[in-house]
Amino acid sequence: MEIKKICVLGAGLMGNGIAQVCAQAGYEVALRDIEQRFIDGGMNTIKKNLSRNVEKGKMAQDEMDAILGRLKPTLDLKEAAGDADLVVEVVIEVMDVKKKVYQELEEIVPDHCLFFSNTSGLSLTELASVTKRPDKFIGTHFFNPVPVMRLLEVIKAYETSEETLKTALEWGKKIGKETIVVNEAPAFAVNRVLCTMLNEAFFALGEGIASAEDIDKGMVLGCNHPIGPLALSDLVGNETLLRVVEGLHKELGDKYRPAPLLVQLVRAGRYGRKTGKGVYDYTK
Ligand code: 3HC
Repeated sequence: MEIKKICVLGAGLMGNGIAQVCAQAGYEVALRDIEQRFIDGGMNTIKKNLSRNVEKGKMAQDEMDAILGRLKPTLDLKEAAGDADLVVEVVIEVMDVKKKVYQELEEIVPDHCLFFSNTSGLSLTELASVTKRPDKFIGTHFFNPVPVMRLLEVIKAYETSEETLKTALEWGKKIGKETIVVNEAPAFAVNRVLCTMLNEAFFALGEGIASAEDIDKGMVLGCNHPIGPLALSDLVGNETLLRVVEGLHKELGDKYRPAPLLVQLVRAGRYGRKTGKGVYDYTK
């Protein structure tokens, strides 16, 4: 199926990155969120990223202008999705909230429209079940920062058709990503491994095994990771990590118990870079 117009639902950390790479690939993109400040924040991040590329000589100014011209920020769901060939849903990771959004979308989108969800761990089969098009529903899991990270994890839900999978893989290639195909399972493939490791780093810190700086330094220098696990958790958001680990715990048992320190940081509102403080303090 040919995709021309894309609606990205959610202008936050992941949503604005997805909108950016889609517009860069030549798609018309409506970027929709529920409050103007989220839209403004998302568009500002995209402008900042593109300007940095122009300053570095990696992109011409008129190319940047053309990309911005393909992006339509809006608060209006009907305007954003009414004629979309594809909706990429990047809504908050709460099952009931996402289900409600899909039910609203069903009343708005054309019959041929595909639903791609960027959930980092919720059941795609359960989400698809509230729509009238479970065959046109698939998981497309991006990694932060979206414009930089090369992977797109494509997750098949129970009813996903081969046609939808093929379209998702072609789309992934067109937006410049390498793809892997994963069958639905709690947290899929990458987060199953990654988030378990990040959670373990919080156990190690909470048990006083080493300082945050030394745990991170150990994983960077000892394992060649580009960034330590605690710094990475601050980058993706500690509340996002906790949600994924809670999902793993619920579905797969005690081996995946969230680290008490991670729970405590989230309760303190220390989500990481986005709130200024997480494991580390970014306000100084
Ligand atoms: N947005 C866009 N571009 C960014 C960026 C951002 N937020 N942060 C960095 N960049 C770009 C820079 O502009 C630079 O571009 P250039 O090569 O064209 O000059 C390039 O990335 C490298 O950036 P820096 O030199 O500033 O910094 P680093 O070399 O330290 O790289 C990093 C930063 C790319 C974030 C690197 O630390 C890294 O790869 N970290 C690991 C990221 C990771 O593991 N992500 C996955 C998280 S899990 C996830 O998202 C799933 C979820 O469901 C939990």
